[in-house]
Amino acid sequence: MSPKPKLPSRFVRESRHESSEMMMPQHANNLGHVFGGVILSLLDRVAAVSAIRHTRQNCVTVSVDRVDFREPIHLGDLVILKSSVNFVGRTSMEIGVRVEAEDLSTGARRHTNSCYLTFVAIDRNHRPMEIPQIVPETDDEKRRYGAAQERRRRRLEERNAERRG
Ligand SMILES: CC(C)(COP(=O)(O)OP(=O)(O)OC[C@H]1O[C@@H](n2cnc3c(N)ncnc32)[C@H](O)[C@@H]1OP(=O)(O)O)[C@@H](O)C(=O)NCCC(=O)NCCS
Repeated sequence: MSPKPKLPSRFVRESRHESSEMMMPQHANNLGHVFGGVILSLLDRVAAVSAIRHTRQNCVTVSVDRVDFREPIHLGDLVILKSSVNFVGRTSMEIGVRVEAEDLSTGARRHTNSCYLTFVAIDRNHRPMEIPQIVPETDDEKRRYGAAQERRRRRLEERNAERRG
């Protein structure tokens, strides 16, 4: 049997996605700031778009790295999320998401947090499937690629340690 043809690689820019949402009363916690779960849900959704853009397959979240909320986001702020694929393994990929909050009355923007999520492409039997490699082009993309490779190494080390008990 002839070997499976290699999937063509894709550029980071092809996976890039940006989304924004104005924070409304239904997004509030009891203190009147934005509820953290709202941001977590947005993070997962924008990351999913980048994962599906890169693979053009169904993708599921397999892991979310630590998320720190360093400062509150206020009602009325526009939350802007930018995502792209940082690194690709065989069936999984790391997506980086940068979150900014814009005070619409002044135009001032704050970088409120960044997060890394790992997605896996799954086939019709819900099993992991091979995905295209990623080609970083710019200096920033190459820096993110290297950092993501190191994070992946640490994640898998932790996963294996957990499995060993
Ligand atoms: C995604 C899923 C199919 C993977 O199954 P699995 O048996 O763990 O598969 P594998 O061990 O072959 O791992 C598949 C890939 O995920 C990566 N992976 C698995 N667990 C991981 C973790 N905790 N962190 C980072 N990567 C992980 C593996 O490294 C591998 O990547 P690679 O092919 O690029 O090397 C399975 O875990 C699943 O169905 N999870 C539920 C997903 C879901 O429903 N998400 C929504 C949350 S409600």
